[in-house]
Amino acid sequence: MAGKRSSFSGTIGFVLAAAGSAVGLGNIWRFPYLAAKDGGGLFLLVYLILAVTFGFTLLTTELAIGRKTRRSSLSAYRRLNPRFKNLGILALIIPMVILPYYSAVGGWVMKYTVAYLTGNGAETATDGYFNNFISSETEPLIYTILFMAATAYVVYRGVNKGIESSSKILMPILLLMIVGIAIFSMTFEYTSDDGVTRSGLDGLKVFVIPDFTDLTLDKLSITIMDAIGQLFFSLSVATGIMITYGSYVKSEDNLIKSINKIEIFDTLVAFLAGMMIIPVVFVFMGQEGMNHSGPGLMFICLPKIFSSMGTVGTVLGAVFFTMVLFAALTSAISMMEGIVASFIDKFGYSRRKSTAIEFVICAVVGVLVCLGYNILYFELPLPNGVTAQILDLLDYISNNMLMPLLALLTCVLVGWITKPKKIIDEITLNGEPFTRKGLYVVMVKYIAPILLMLLLFKSVGVF
Ligand code: PFF
Repeated sequence: MAGKRSSFSGTIGFVLAAAGSAVGLGNIWRFPYLAAKDGGGLFLLVYLILAVTFGFTLLTTELAIGRKTRRSSLSAYRRLNPRFKNLGILALIIPMVILPYYSAVGGWVMKYTVAYLTGNGAETATDGYFNNFISSETEPLIYTILFMAATAYVVYRGVNKGIESSSKILMPILLLMIVGIAIFSMTFEYTSDDGVTRSGLDGLKVFVIPDFTDLTLDKLSITIMDAIGQLFFSLSVATGIMITYGSYVKSEDNLIKSINKIEIFDTLVAFLAGMMIIPVVFVFMGQEGMNHSGPGLMFICLPKIFSSMGTVGTVLGAVFFTMVLFAALTSAISMMEGIVASFIDKFGYSRRKSTAIEFVICAVVGVLVCLGYNILYFELPLPNGVTAQILDLLDYISNNMLMPLLALLTCVLVGWITKPKKIIDEITLNGEPFTRKGLYVVMVKYIAPILLMLLLFKSVGVF
């Protein structure tokens, strides 16, 4: 298997697989809780601006590097410039840090899916259910390992059979469900004990309309820092994954069109997930709930929506969590695929051996993440205002430190050493028009590196 490289069977297969990597827990679980934490509208505005400038620049760069070098990230950077070969190692480490905690959250989703499928969905809406679950010692562990095993199985079977075929069916269904639930969540209304009535529409306003009153420089910089981290995470960039996926794209495929589609699809799903969850947080918990939302948000809010729908809610909950589980799996698969492809390219290991090695590493760290909510519990304040356990800590290290570092060095390499022309030539290989060419050059050479440098300083607490 170390010999011939796999390739996607066509553009649609590639777009869906890349979108399958991009769309996952980042959109449905991570985006809404960060948006709630950072005040809704302001986060959304910053995120959208960054997506069409920054996100687009990184996605374009990485897919082009992959297709040009025909290598996974571990060796692609060396091909581009031997002095930058260590970026390949960084790109390998990042998904190795993310995958264990991603799988832990994937395990939570699996638990909820099972609860709904076995008719116990209503229980998940009771107070304290989520916290009791994650602080129990064995159950989260079992689900995390199961989630990892499912991921490893698909990766072991290979790119075409596993990744493409599952993405083609599941992504469109997931999108339809999110739209339906988002619309429903607008209709909520609730009067709290102190007599304040809040509606889903008020919550929608909090999500889409930025509030600039009381905006301080510190709050803005935390919002930008969170938004950039989320953008990396959501688009699966600065992880080497898109380089690896780019290496499977055929030369005659139109990369620009594919990039636009991936970007639009990913941002749309994140936006809709926000519409689905934020109004409900606001209705039931008000501004206070928004400020204190954390990784558990989705698991506390969505069951409330479903339980208010009665029996229909139980069925919808079952379908919904199953879809989220698949979205999480397609993303986890892409992460493991990136790592496994690097092992194959670099060490010449078989796919089976590479998958087994990564599975073991991931399982060990994943167990620690789960124990972070019970035996290994601690509270560590981070510069972005989060009180971290092991999960948040790994999330912070990957998204706020390692990914910006890799993105910064990639921009330096492409912007200043190999020069943007190399990327542009690859993107326009078949004479495709590249309308954002000027923006791309300015971003990759100047704006992105400066922003990333500031972000890195902020993340390590320099200011
Ligand atoms: N983009 C995925 C999501 O939004 O859930 C997560 C992810 C996949 C992050 C692949 C990083 C990665 F390399």
